[in-house]
Amino acid sequence: MPQGATVIVRPASAVRGLVRIPGDKSISHRYAMLAAIAEGTSRFHNFSAAQDCYSTLGCMQALGCHWEKEEDGVIEVKGRGLKLIAPAQPLDCGNSGSTIRMLSGILAGQPFITELFGDESLSRRPMARIMKPLAEMGARIESCEGGRPPLKIHGGALKAIQYKPEVASAQVKTCVLFAGLSANGETTVEEPIRTRDHGELALRAFGVQVERSGNTTRIKGGQRLHALEAHIPGDLSSAAFFLCAAALFPESQLTLPGILMNPTRARLLDILIQMGLKISVAQLEEHHGELIGTIEVRGAAWKGGAISGADTAALIDEIPVLAATAPCTENGLEVRDAKELRVKESDRIAAVAINLRKMGAEVEERPDGLRIPGRQRLHGAELDSFGDHRIAMAFAIAALRADGETVISGADAAGVSYPSFFSDLNSVTSH
Ligand code: S3P
Repeated sequence: MPQGATVIVRPASAVRGLVRIPGDKSISHRYAMLAAIAEGTSRFHNFSAAQDCYSTLGCMQALGCHWEKEEDGVIEVKGRGLKLIAPAQPLDCGNSGSTIRMLSGILAGQPFITELFGDESLSRRPMARIMKPLAEMGARIESCEGGRPPLKIHGGALKAIQYKPEVASAQVKTCVLFAGLSANGETTVEEPIRTRDHGELALRAFGVQVERSGNTTRIKGGQRLHALEAHIPGDLSSAAFFLCAAALFPESQLTLPGILMNPTRARLLDILIQMGLKISVAQLEEHHGELIGTIEVRGAAWKGGAISGADTAALIDEIPVLAATAPCTENGLEVRDAKELRVKESDRIAAVAINLRKMGAEVEERPDGLRIPGRQRLHGAELDSFGDHRIAMAFAIAALRADGETVISGADAAGVSYPSFFSDLNSVTSH
């Protein structure tokens, strides 16, 4: 899709069929980074199609690690061990917060200087949350005012720390654990709320010993990584758009094979079931610590509910689509404790409120959340993605239940996490 592309979404009557969701973005980033610092050649089946993950691969290439996409779509990465080479130019992280934050952990332990930058949205995002622990470990990091990118990382010898992040962030945890690989001693991270554990599981899959008890994770420095061949499960956060689409129409029935079922992500399914969706999971398997299963979903009474505390952290990427579709629930939706949504690819609280109001809905916007009454009718409108992939996709789903056509400008943003989203959606939508 060309930059700034506009998509028109027409009202639908149901979604039915099968969607093969691309590989999980969080796991793909971590596997690509760890493969680069492993010994030997790693191979990944169903690697994410997200532009963000290609930003990570581009950075790894610039750090001397060669990768290739084979004919069958498998991504092959030739590892360099923990000895990357100083890049000739600043590294372009595109739109990807995961790339800049997690890669910084690896670069902090490399004996050279690296500059990392990103697009306009990434340049507004807070990096102090990773700069603080990495500085404690001994790296010197320069940033723009207010701890924003670009970052200049002066890497070198690191010492282990015991770190308690203030924000619940898997990117921060993973960054510190990745830095811990190069540190002298044992690094620990004690999280305020347990976040997604793909970093820990990925490290183990590459042969690293990582201990966990409660919310504390420990890693000893100086461990070597071996190459990995793995199948990456379908991204549950991308599947969420289709699950919410199914919720909008009682006649819906979708099959989503091979989806990530990691318990630190799958809270979404419990909440959707509480909200009235009929979901079953079959063919559960485990691949390198990650659970995978086939989701069958049927539409039913879409009741709505409330999301707060640890649930908000667990569902942070899915809240935009839950909120965009909330006017179509019976009882509405209340989201609390979600101020992190304001510092994502866009201010997602404001973006949801603006777009829903344009569709004629009543919304209460709060500093840390939203309250959206149920049983509201949406009408087609001219909406903006705010350059944010999840906003573009969330409103494409809401538009299925609007009266009249909805025009979404900047819909190409969807490619950041899910390039084939609009064609996949068309393939299961009945009008
Ligand atoms: C991610 C963690 C979350 C999430 C992001 C991916 C990860 O961000 O929103 O899309 O892969 O670790 P935070 O760590 O900022 O919560």
